[in-house]
Amino acid sequence: MNDDLKALIRTIPDFPKPGIQFRDITTLLLDPAGYATTIDRMVRATIGKVDLVAGIEARGFLFAAALAVPLNAGVLLIRKDGKLPGATIAEDYALEYGQDRIAMHEDALVPGQRVLLVDDLIATGGTARAAIRLLRKAGATVDQVQFVVDLPDLGGADALRAGGVRVDSLIR
Ligand code: PRP
Ligand code: HPA
Repeated sequence: MNDDLKALIRTIPDFPKPGIQFRDITTLLLDPAGYATTIDRMVRATIGKVDLVAGIEARGFLFAAALAVPLNAGVLLIRKDGKLPGATIAEDYALEYGQDRIAMHEDALVPGQRVLLVDDLIATGGTARAAIRLLRKAGATVDQVQFVVDLPDLGGADALRAGGVRVDSLIR
């Protein structure tokens, strides 16, 4: 069903390291109909009322912001540590190819608000799990996560599901 979108994603071999097949969504973004269809399908996959859509830097922002408008929700930025100007809370995580730390403003949400987490891609799921920990630490309800691309062989989405979160992705 999403083969039309899959055709808009290209694979770059050996980026950022030898052996990694990098799924590149910049080609999908360059296609106006493909980008609009992506957002439309993410809107349709959204369950219930969402207060905030949280996007993970950097490519997650491109989908979170566009999705928040039709959902009538705000946008919450989860950034690489050191980029946000206000007081933050942070979480460390292991990446498929490295180590990193993400942060959000500690006052970005009101405890109890329902937050839909969005990113362009899930691989190991380390980034998304850290983002969920971060949002919950701030008091958010997080029960749904959406990705444009899932790399199922890496098991990230299954691990999130095992933790009780609904996971939707358009392309596997
Ligand atoms: C990529 C991608 C996800 C994450 C997925 O981001 O956009 O956020 O890695 O990997 P994981 O499931 O194994 O954690 P990256 O850290 O490359 O940041 P960028 O969007 O700023 O390029
Ligand atoms: N593409 C984009 N981002 C990624 C990938 C990938 O294949 N793997 C981990 N993050």
